Amino acid sequence: MCGIVALTLKEGNASPLLHSALKRLEYRGYDSAGIATLYGEKIFVKKDAGKIDEIHARLNFDNMPGSVGVSHTRWSTHGAPTRENAHPHLDCKNTVAVVHNGVIENFLELKEELMDRGHRFVSRTDTEVISHLVEEGLDAGENLYNATVNALRRLRGSYALAIISTREPNKIVCARNESPLVLGLSDSGTFCASDIPAILPYTNKIIILNNGELAVLEADNIIIKRISDGVTLSREAKVIEWSIEQAEKQGYPHFMLKEIHEQPTSLRNALRLQEQYLDLITTFLDRGEKIFLLAAGTSHYACIAASYMFSKLARLATYPVVSSEFIENYGDSIGIDTVVLAVSQSGETYDTLKAVDYARMRAATILGITNVVGSTLTRVSRAYIVQQSGPEIGVAATKSYTAQVLVLAQLALKLAKMRGKLSQDEIDEVKASLQRIPETVENILEKREEKVKELARKYAKEKTFLFLGRGISTATALEGRLKLLEISYKPSLAYPAGESKHGPISVVEDGTPTIFICPNDETRKDIIGNMMEMKARGAKIISLCEEGDQKIADLSDDIIEVPKVHPILSPIPYIIPLQLLAYYIAVENGLDPDKPRNLAKSVTVP
Ligand code: M6R
Repeated sequence: MCGIVALTLKEGNASPLLHSALKRLEYRGYDSAGIATLYGEKIFVKKDAGKIDEIHARLNFDNMPGSVGVSHTRWSTHGAPTRENAHPHLDCKNTVAVVHNGVIENFLELKEELMDRGHRFVSRTDTEVISHLVEEGLDAGENLYNATVNALRRLRGSYALAIISTREPNKIVCARNESPLVLGLSDSGTFCASDIPAILPYTNKIIILNNGELAVLEADNIIIKRISDGVTLSREAKVIEWSIEQAEKQGYPHFMLKEIHEQPTSLRNALRLQEQYLDLITTFLDRGEKIFLLAAGTSHYACIAASYMFSKLARLATYPVVSSEFIENYGDSIGIDTVVLAVSQSGETYDTLKAVDYARMRAATILGITNVVGSTLTRVSRAYIVQQSGPEIGVAATKSYTAQVLVLAQLALKLAKMRGKLSQDEIDEVKASLQRIPETVENILEKREEKVKELARKYAKEKTFLFLGRGISTATALEGRLKLLEISYKPSLAYPAGESKHGPISVVEDGTPTIFICPNDETRKDIIGNMMEMKARGAKIISLCEEGDQKIADLSDDIIEVPKVHPILSPIPYIIPLQLLAYYIAVENGLDPDKPRNLAKSVTVP
């Protein structure tokens, strides 16, 4: 995830402080870094792709003149990790420098418009449009504050940004919409940053900037305003007592919990994909004779959910296959008519890349979904989508799973439209539910976490769990089981509930915790039958069901209610309580959920 830091000092050079603040943003993950400072009539910039230490060894970040500056660590979203794409981004005349974290949805339209008016672009980023928009405002005689507000009004998407200009060399204007931004005050100057640890050694007097707010920083003063109407807001600074380590987790005890809570944001970002990439992938999928959804671990379970979506929405059969089995199982049938959609958070999973290589050699079309721009998967794919989840530090995939499912749902819906398989009303209904998904997840996190904690305490010492779902909820059962198993080391079973009679039911005895995933879809009636079978054998039934589903509640020992969504999207909200349950059971058992034994975040070996 990109990180920004900006500061304006009463005296002394800004760049050494920016440099060490950037080092404290490294834990967020990045591929490029840069600093811009203001001195006299000039903006000085040092930036490049690579690690901060390497760039510093080449360019020396510490000897830049000026007491005002902005800086950035970049996690690529638009454009490869290169020097040109690294922030800060300047305007045509080098009078404006911008650093940005977020995604500007309408940047292509704005870029075209600005180019038509003669602006020269040097990067492929979405951010650069902001520098040129501010430049236009300044050229029209606006001050930096007004030029920024007018630029922001043109943007659609998320941003935390900081802007400096030679026209007002003692100021920084920063603003926030969705991406986080904090402000800091001290006797030596004022600060803004993506998160508290970056500036904690300089000040612990922190103001959180809210969505839709902007701040003008001078060395001895901060003015906060609402972007929509320019009203000045007054806000007291809070004194933060966290250590740097606590601050990196934003006060959460583990990265996994922080990442679970980041899902409303990561899902909003996954809804902001560039239409042309979705269209391209959809066109390739439509052309395929045989379509394989290739992935490992959690990404494989996202593909299982997707196979139901492709079938139900677009009437298209796809094969979700575990990467390590692909060559053995399907290798001989791969040819020019095959499309392989490989899904990998890291884009570096050995098994997935090996299977992709094999399919490429046999002339299959390779498509990718990944979280990492510049990863091997992006380089070997004919077309790819970056899911925009930001770096995931916890070994257990959480926010990357829900974002993958959301991206795949958008593809399935597009394909349905392209193939004329759904009525306009049906398409609109799914679309509306898709748009509401981030707030549905927000609602679950707000209302259900306490209940899940209580259940974690109740069941933490159980040795094994059974996860059952039908239809698309099979994917949720499998992913819920994997979460619990990998961080709590509890060997557990997950099955399509219809299969339970064919074997798994034999493990059930008095008190076996059995988790049923029962959204209100066409499988509900049958799953009620499966619940009764398990209950009759003494299982303790824990159900995830739609809010107000009395029948399921009556049959269950414990329930976690989930708001109503379109049934095809249920894998996203229904996995949230299971992520929390796995997390709290691990914590109850004194385990570190961020570092499960024997596991690596990215498995790059055979
Ligand atoms: O980076 P990838 O999505 O390719 O990773 C695949 C699996 O290694 C990964 O999902 C793994 O199963 C996680 N530990 C699950 O939480």
